[in-house]
Amino acid sequence: MNVRLKTNDLEAFWMPFTANRQFKKAPRMFVAAEGMHYTTDDGRKVLDGTSGLWCVNAGHCRPRIVAAIQSQAAALDFAPTFQMGHPKVFEAASKLVNIAPPGFNHVFFTNSGSESVETALKMAIAYHRAKGNAAKVRLIGRERGYHGVNFGGISVGGIVSNRKMFGALMAGIDHLRHTHDLSRNAFSRGEPEHGIELADDLERLVALHDASTIAAVIVEPVACSAGVLIPPKGYLKRLAEICAKHDILLIMDEVITGFGRLGTPFGADYFGVSPDIITTAKGLTNGVIPMGAVFVTSKIHDAFMNGPDHVIEFFHGYTYSGNPVASAAAIATLETYQEEGLLTRAAELAPYWEERMHGLSGLPHVIDIRNIGLIGAIELDPAPGEPTKRAYARFVTAFEQGLLVRATGDVIALSPPLIITKSQIDELFDILTKVLKTAK
Ligand SMILES: Cc1ncc(COP(=O)(O)O)c(C=O)c1O
Repeated sequence: MNVRLKTNDLEAFWMPFTANRQFKKAPRMFVAAEGMHYTTDDGRKVLDGTSGLWCVNAGHCRPRIVAAIQSQAAALDFAPTFQMGHPKVFEAASKLVNIAPPGFNHVFFTNSGSESVETALKMAIAYHRAKGNAAKVRLIGRERGYHGVNFGGISVGGIVSNRKMFGALMAGIDHLRHTHDLSRNAFSRGEPEHGIELADDLERLVALHDASTIAAVIVEPVACSAGVLIPPKGYLKRLAEICAKHDILLIMDEVITGFGRLGTPFGADYFGVSPDIITTAKGLTNGVIPMGAVFVTSKIHDAFMNGPDHVIEFFHGYTYSGNPVASAAAIATLETYQEEGLLTRAAELAPYWEERMHGLSGLPHVIDIRNIGLIGAIELDPAPGEPTKRAYARFVTAFEQGLLVRATGDVIALSPPLIITKSQIDELFDILTKVLKTAK
């Protein structure tokens, strides 16, 4: 395969979340993928340690998903889902509720995680209004949370670089404190011991704003984009209890933890917590076609199903909500997950993964290692005056050595496809060990 592009072909595409000028001086290009590997434009195989961008849970170019997309595009390319329907979208929704946590009987389709978040936030406010509690409009996020890049998502989100350039953001938002505490929890295996009391921060915000003004709390079960922040033991359960006590909806943003990442179909299953709304995307179609889904309980859905039959119940939706090709991709993806046991496979691999993760402790600049399910993070002490530089340098070196990792801040994050074998886990950590030992 020889499709190398010239540098001067790279100008037109303004790349997202990328140092454009740096990238275009030394581009890193993938031209093909299969299973656990990418192929670069110079013909090298690169082991995918990040499932693309936390989304290719079943590995790359899976034949069933490819075939489903091809045949759907040829049979029915597009059909509106506003006042019209097509069978594939109903089939996809039914299959999804069958693997969802108990009580999640309805699905609203979007095209991305960001859109799932906006949809969930609007649903939460509209739900309370439909129930006669129109003053419940405030939204509570969490410091270091990532909920996509649209205005609602960056408002409830808590990553400063995603917020500071974009004005005053939405009104009526507050934030819980984040749960990351290296002084007490460094090198924890799985859920850290300390920090359950941070869930009580919600009581502080209720005391400040009053529960009668608060619609919902949104949190990621594991805050992955901000560097894999794993919730302390008992934290999510306590947060859910406080929400229930005050009639505040709990939205779990499972754009990454959905579809098997933790060894259970959803993070809600893993942590034994029953939220009201679950947002998803990414693994829903194995990353192949953009699609998101918001799962809601009957309590939420049914609150909208009143008034005359001919009136639209929820004035919201996207042109591509439940697009036929995306629906076909979702169905084929779910069938692949189910046939191969991928929604629970991470639970089998997790102990081995944990051992190999923590085998990296003691390597230069490593100040923390964390793991849960098939996710891992290595936190590095920041280079003096140059935060993020060390992790980025290791990401580039790893790529050159045949491994894709994700650098986020001073953290190297790992989340390989759920089809990874033990010997590929060994290969991943052998490369990473070398990189951590040698990179500057
Ligand atoms: C928890 C969470 N929510 C929302 C998003 C946004 O998803 P998208 O990039 O598909 O808009 C992400 C993406 O990483 C995410 O991790």
